[in-house]
Amino acid sequence: MAIQYWGNKGGQRNKILAFRHSYHGDTFGAMSVSERSVFTAPFSDYLFEVEFVGTPTRDNIYELLSLVRREGSSIAGFIYEPLLQGAGGMRIYEAQLLDELLAELSGQGILCIADEVLTGFGRTGRLFAGEYLRHKADIICLSKGLTGGTMALGVTAVTERLFEAFLSDDRRKTLFHGHSFTANPIACAASLASLDLLLDEGNLQRIAHIGRRHEAFLEKLALYPIVKNPRSIGTILAFELNTGEDGYVNAIGPAITKEALAQGIYLRPLGNTVYFMPPYCITEKEMDQVYDFLVHSIVVHS
Ligand SMILES: Cc1ncc(COP(=O)(O)O)c(C=O)c1O
Repeated sequence: MAIQYWGNKGGQRNKILAFRHSYHGDTFGAMSVSERSVFTAPFSDYLFEVEFVGTPTRDNIYELLSLVRREGSSIAGFIYEPLLQGAGGMRIYEAQLLDELLAELSGQGILCIADEVLTGFGRTGRLFAGEYLRHKADIICLSKGLTGGTMALGVTAVTERLFEAFLSDDRRKTLFHGHSFTANPIACAASLASLDLLLDEGNLQRIAHIGRRHEAFLEKLALYPIVKNPRSIGTILAFELNTGEDGYVNAIGPAITKEALAQGIYLRPLGNTVYFMPPYCITEKEMDQVYDFLVHSIVVHS
């Protein structure tokens, strides 16, 4: 959409900007804008070129802003997972710095594409991670929590400005990309029902409660030398186990998955990055069970 937007406007922009360590999915477009990794390696010859930059930190923010000022007029769009990069390692970064970057990008007319597939629907403690930001996206990608995981449905929502760029008597300006199951009525009904549940006051309190329990558990994690960088955002808790090289192929991940399954827990570390991302309906007892398993696992692997 971002690419065709510029075509429809008669513009010359074709560059796409994305973050290192990003993960946006498995189609060729989504792989192209994702960090090149073991996920994308077999397909690397077929992926289009993207400019990757680090997520903003206090050290690199001025460099990022000056890159955007320098190259802005050739950049069509910027895609990002707001506040939390998921499959790339559960990496949390600062909302305020992202906001500064988004301000500069928007100022240059660059379309900002928020991938909230993972962060959406309460995961980061608010309904959307974008609610922590002053600068809003032009395109937002939603899936996963949209139906509470019950039906297959994704949404790409855009602002009026984008929508209008496709409205024309010239048929070539149409977005021709639809799918067999676009706006599937059963999936849409499931999504509406899931939203009703999600917005229930009791559920929002539950999300906040899970967040507080994670924060309390972080203090416990800090006691174990094998645990690196314990962190949490909303309902997600993550840490690294300091066992060999960091990364997805670290063998500890599958080993922990197996041990967890034996305890009736489905836990799927990203290599040596262990994360706990419970459904909001998890009971107190089940949360205790997972925290106990994590401590046990840390001790066993220390
Ligand atoms: C941030 C992010 N974007 C996109 C995707 C891909 O979503 P889908 O499988 O709905 O295409 C994922 C899936 O894990 C994701 O975490």
